[in-house]
Amino acid sequence: MRALATLRVERLIILLDLTVNVILVHAHGIPNFTMQWASIVLILYTLVTLGLACCTPDQWEGTQPEFAGYAGYIHHGLITEYNDVAYDFKGKRSAIFLRYVNGDIEAKIKIVVRYEDNEGGMLYVDNYAKGSCWKKRLEREFRKACIPKDAKSYGEYYLGIDGGYKVASYKIRGERMNSILTVQSVEDNVCAPIGEISMGRAGHYDILRNVGFVNITPGIKNETVFDVPKDCTEDWSDFDLPIEIDRQDYIFAV
Ligand SMILES: *[C@@H]1O[C@H](CO)[C@@H](O)[C@H](O)[C@H]1NC(C)=O
Repeated sequence: MRALATLRVERLIILLDLTVNVILVHAHGIPNFTMQWASIVLILYTLVTLGLACCTPDQWEGTQPEFAGYAGYIHHGLITEYNDVAYDFKGKRSAIFLRYVNGDIEAKIKIVVRYEDNEGGMLYVDNYAKGSCWKKRLEREFRKACIPKDAKSYGEYYLGIDGGYKVASYKIRGERMNSILTVQSVEDNVCAPIGEISMGRAGHYDILRNVGFVNITPGIKNETVFDVPKDCTEDWSDFDLPIEIDRQDYIFAV
């Protein structure tokens, strides 16, 4: 039923789009007329994207392999990562264990985000080999991992064999990075991430990231993943993190 309704709306949109284009061509030079039609299209477009947006389940774990190419004035290279991710919207916390390789540099880093009542959020970054920790207070709310309402939908299609593995893709405009995110529908308005391509600037570097989401399981197996990392228990003050680590979009592009 829902698919049918979506199809109908899509057809309606295509029809309206065509009509509008025809009218726009004819109405060229009559700005008011054009403006009215443009706003109708905008409203309808918003309605359609509202209907299709989705969020991940409230709790899940999974693995994120990642390849990121970067280029600056002097340095350029490839970062590969193999990360274990845990996301808990109910408890307002997330954890990522990064295995990071950038040329000769290899690091194992644990990143934990926790929100305490009345205190707001904290970001902890523990570099295991160095035994060092960065801490940073987070001003923003804990984010629910969703396709934002203003994302542009590329529609649904099948990976590989037609009629087999159904996915949907969205184009998302972020603050630093723009992304194309591919998701698998789980149920109404709930989806699981499959892949993400992001491009943009991080510090002085242009960067292109390709992230996969694999072996996703619902729920949290062991809550100790969200514990404050061992090197972060002393009273560190806030200071700036390296831009590469200070990114808050590990879980979902948004
Ligand atoms: C959870 O993980 C911790 C740390 O790895 C371990 O000590 C503990 O036994 C685990 N608990 C359960 C219930 O598996």
